[in-house]
Amino acid sequence: MKIVVGTKEEISKIVSEEIIKEIQDKPNLVLGLATGSSPIEVYANLVKAVKNGKVSFKDVTTFNLDEYVGLDERDINSYRYFMKEHLFNHIDINKENINFPSPDALEEYDKKIEECGNVDLQILGVGRNGHIGFNEPFTSFNSTTHLVDLSYKTRQDNSRFFYDIDNVPKQAVTIGLKNIMNAKKIILMAFGESKQEAIYKMVKGQVTKEVPCSILQEHSNCTIYVDEEAYNLLKTKTEGE
Ligand code: GLP
Repeated sequence: MKIVVGTKEEISKIVSEEIIKEIQDKPNLVLGLATGSSPIEVYANLVKAVKNGKVSFKDVTTFNLDEYVGLDERDINSYRYFMKEHLFNHIDINKENINFPSPDALEEYDKKIEECGNVDLQILGVGRNGHIGFNEPFTSFNSTTHLVDLSYKTRQDNSRFFYDIDNVPKQAVTIGLKNIMNAKKIILMAFGESKQEAIYKMVKGQVTKEVPCSILQEHSNCTIYVDEEAYNLLKTKTEGE
């Protein structure tokens, strides 16, 4: 597991350049995408790169990590809406190559990922409680695409987009930890002090179901990009060793 510390702007630049390079090397790249605030700047950089003719998504296939259950794709809080707003509507991707998990086609999603030869590059954020995708604490490391009941903490974190926690869906569908670990390369981004505990546990803690992201310690090509605030606890504890 490699750690890179920088500002959000610096990290977003490095990560978008990495994605661009991967697509240039393999135009039919299979890209795993995340929502949340962490990757927004990366997506903005990708949009610019497409507009400048630096890269094309024409042959790229994407698989999003997760989606709320019960929200229409026109709902501004659905992850399909988010992805259109921040990326898909502004790039030359073939709409047929965009994939989202859905509660009525769980196994089909796993199969489709496999048929595409698995994800080449997976972009991840992390929740305060260490969730990745919507894999909440105590999710099996062997999990594949599945339905989840969202924890109160996660619903509370995401309520900033919904005005009121009661409007946050109680369920979501997510790819599993096994799917995530099957990706050939993983990039995780985390910004702000609210993520420092999750980052510390992810890097230095035990690999335990209590902290879903800790499984990433076992991935052979995973880089964690953090800002100083998200890095703080890890830095303090490492210095004390
Ligand atoms: C949500 C998403 C996750 C994301 C997390 C962190 O719960 N399901 O995929 O990683 O939020 O979000 P943010 O980047 O806004 O901190």
